[in-house]
Amino acid sequence: MIYCHKFRILKNEETIPGHRLMIVDAPGISAAAVPGQFLHLRCSDSTDPLLRRPVSIHRVERDKGLAHMLYRVAGRGTALLAGKMPGEYLDVMGPLGKGFTLPLPGERVAVVGGGIGAAPLFFLVEELIRECPPNNMVSFFLGAASASQLPPASVLHSPGLEVHTATDDGSAGYHGTVTALLESRIDSGPAGFDRIYACGPAPMLRSLVRMAGSLGIPGQVSLEERMGCGVGACLSCACKIKDRSADGFLYKHACTDGPVFDMREVYY
Ligand code: FES
Repeated sequence: MIYCHKFRILKNEETIPGHRLMIVDAPGISAAAVPGQFLHLRCSDSTDPLLRRPVSIHRVERDKGLAHMLYRVAGRGTALLAGKMPGEYLDVMGPLGKGFTLPLPGERVAVVGGGIGAAPLFFLVEELIRECPPNNMVSFFLGAASASQLPPASVLHSPGLEVHTATDDGSAGYHGTVTALLESRIDSGPAGFDRIYACGPAPMLRSLVRMAGSLGIPGQVSLEERMGCGVGACLSCACKIKDRSADGFLYKHACTDGPVFDMREVYY
């Protein structure tokens, strides 16, 4: 079911520089959403900006009926969102889009997030912990430019969860890219993975998809990074998907056909 209502904002505050966490009281959405889906937010009551902004669902608290969104303030729409105060009501449509599908029982799972792309993966990790039996080992790889840009993983609680961090400047965790960190773990021995889930900037996803392909590891990626309008109108989210045509690919839209795609379908 897709909801389109005004929901009360409970929190909207900066949690990492340039990024804000918004929590809305939206029981229907929190019950219906699956990881990887997004919400479509009306940023103002006027027609400027005309289009809603798509923002991924960062986490849900189903017992409290809450939906969390972690968003980067980068443009007029998100600047307007940043000005919303707790107690105000926000026009929200969703949940929208195709989300992640959960692994098979017993599979060892790597979840890989880069920058703000890690936001929807918190929901996925929590769902993996909740829905998969304890024999599904989950490793969460989080990458960012520096320690101050890493979303706090302390909200995730599970004895079976491993969290690994990487930063470009070496200020926290592994010094290098999150993809290189994952590769080093795979190379170093028993920590093989049966399935990979990822979301992040295009260069990260490209190298991850190639690495997973060469190792024969299946997985899914969310291509939400470039979404603008969220409804198939702006074409900013066009992505190449493998096809039997002469070109070897066709264009699909992350907002209407995804944002989650099978790694083996993505054409890089
Ligand atoms: Fe505008 Fe997909 S985000 S067409």
